[in-house]
Amino acid sequence: MSETDRLRGVVLAGGTGSRLFPLTKVTNKHLLPVGREPMIFHPVKKLVEAGVREILIVTGTEHMGAVVGLLGSGKDFGCELTYRVQDEAGGIAQALGLARGFGRDGGLVVVLGDNVFQASLLPFAEAFRRQGRGAKILLKEVPDPGRYGVAVTAGDRVVRIIEKPKDPPSALAVTGIYFYDQEVFHVIEGLRPSARGELEITDVNNAYIQRGELTFDALPGWWTDAGTFESLKHANDLVTQGP
Ligand code: G1P
Repeated sequence: MSETDRLRGVVLAGGTGSRLFPLTKVTNKHLLPVGREPMIFHPVKKLVEAGVREILIVTGTEHMGAVVGLLGSGKDFGCELTYRVQDEAGGIAQALGLARGFGRDGGLVVVLGDNVFQASLLPFAEAFRRQGRGAKILLKEVPDPGRYGVAVTAGDRVVRIIEKPKDPPSALAVTGIYFYDQEVFHVIEGLRPSARGELEITDVNNAYIQRGELTFDALPGWWTDAGTFESLKHANDLVTQGP
């Protein structure tokens, strides 16, 4: 990856949306409304705003037709969209593994399709390009960290991330916005499924910590996921309030 390379984007929009059942019985979580738009518009627009022009959308078989029907080629958003199917819900890291070969070189910015946030990703994309390799995560202080991956920090370093800890070691949630170099695919290949049977993105980030190649920044502005009834309502309130 060189400083002049453009980052490519990946939006992960798979999963069963079980926490939003029955809203997700016949549609994909990422197609539900947040403000005046389907949820998935949000990460796509945030990537385009950050200068990303090639974006891969990963989603399951059931609603791929609807997702493609909604987003099309990407020309309405000013980007070029590619689609890949995740056959079964095997975790975020498994879904990301499907991005292998999408842009053989250069860095990736990965956004979970249910993350809704205020700040522009442009400064972080630029910082990651300057970093040149490894990974970067964005952290946000939240009142309920146990719902997320939680960062254990020592000084200005993240020394470990714990996925949904019962007793959170800090209030710093790992947001669903990640920057990776191409090594991420080797890391994913070496993962084992977690207790819940999924390849965890937290294990990917911990592998980069082990290599001493993970940096982080604090995400300014508001941020939420929208994967539960409560957080979906919260996301709607935040978006409707405007910037
Ligand atoms: C996922 C990740 C978690 C992260 C969160 C951000 O959780 O596993 O580490 O903090 O996204 O939205 P999930 O929403 O899949 O439970």
